[in-house]
Amino acid sequence: MFAIAHPNVALVKYWGKQPGTANIPATPSLSITLDAIATRTRVEAATEDRVFINGSAVADAKVLGLIAQMREVWQLPPLVVHSANDFPTGAGLASSASGCAALVTAIDHAFGLNLARAERSTWARRGSASAARSVFGGFVTLEAKADWAATPLLNKDAWPLEVAVAITSDAAKRTPSTIGMESSRATSPFFDAWTSTATEDFGAAQRAVLERRYDALADIAEHSCLKMHALMLSTRPALMYWNEATVAAMATVRRLREAGTPVFFSVDAGPQVKAVCAPGCGEEAAAALAQTPGVLRVLTSALGDGARIVEGEDG
Ligand code: PMV
Repeated sequence: MFAIAHPNVALVKYWGKQPGTANIPATPSLSITLDAIATRTRVEAATEDRVFINGSAVADAKVLGLIAQMREVWQLPPLVVHSANDFPTGAGLASSASGCAALVTAIDHAFGLNLARAERSTWARRGSASAARSVFGGFVTLEAKADWAATPLLNKDAWPLEVAVAITSDAAKRTPSTIGMESSRATSPFFDAWTSTATEDFGAAQRAVLERRYDALADIAEHSCLKMHALMLSTRPALMYWNEATVAAMATVRRLREAGTPVFFSVDAGPQVKAVCAPGCGEEAAAALAQTPGVLRVLTSALGDGARIVEGEDG
């Protein structure tokens, strides 16, 4: 028995936290959950806390910090956590989102906490804010309501977008997002502009999703992504998550869209490019990205389900 959770891609991004220690985002966000990649996590009572990620013992601050916070509410025994990602870890593919969502789901199940999905989302958010969204499938929002639990916006089958992910590096990122966000808040002259325009972007994206208006969603999502990277670039020292292949892959996506293929890009705190395609266009985008210089490989994904328990030995 193990918990499975998938990474998600924010189409309206969050970057920056509110002051305080509660891990509350400074901006609302809207995401899609991916089906093709996942974290699988198992927890068991043990004699001391130990965390294994992909088989290696690690002192993962997010995992240990989240367990410590849960212990303030429940009497959990010492835990051994086995977590495995079937994709590069800490490289801009949201491994902390799927990781924290899977961890809370696994602890909830193993110790009979009986948490509602929204409560699991709030707990996952305390570990990694984007993890709140991975508790749900399809299109998901995260905003200042219900203790910043995420909320499902639209079912994955209602608008089955496809995503081609161009992997341009397997290396872990140099600046973890929590540190980068704090640095942006403290040093970027663009931070206030970022937070004061986020609500409008969020509202526009929500409407575009509910009305399935692809072009409107594409415009707002690329704008939100590039605005976040402008914020990162204007941070001191600058946060530069792209490499040459990232830029080349973004150009490929723009070229496809200009030629009439419904596809837009999204890039997070890492060098991978996610091409979000209208239903039926994923293979074409994947083929074009695979031909792009510097792209190591491309994976394609449908939209996925939220974090859940699965029978079996894996994990
Ligand atoms: O989940 P965190 O706190 O590590 O931050 C994730 C930030 C981005 O992935 C860049 C944007 C987002 O909204 O997911």
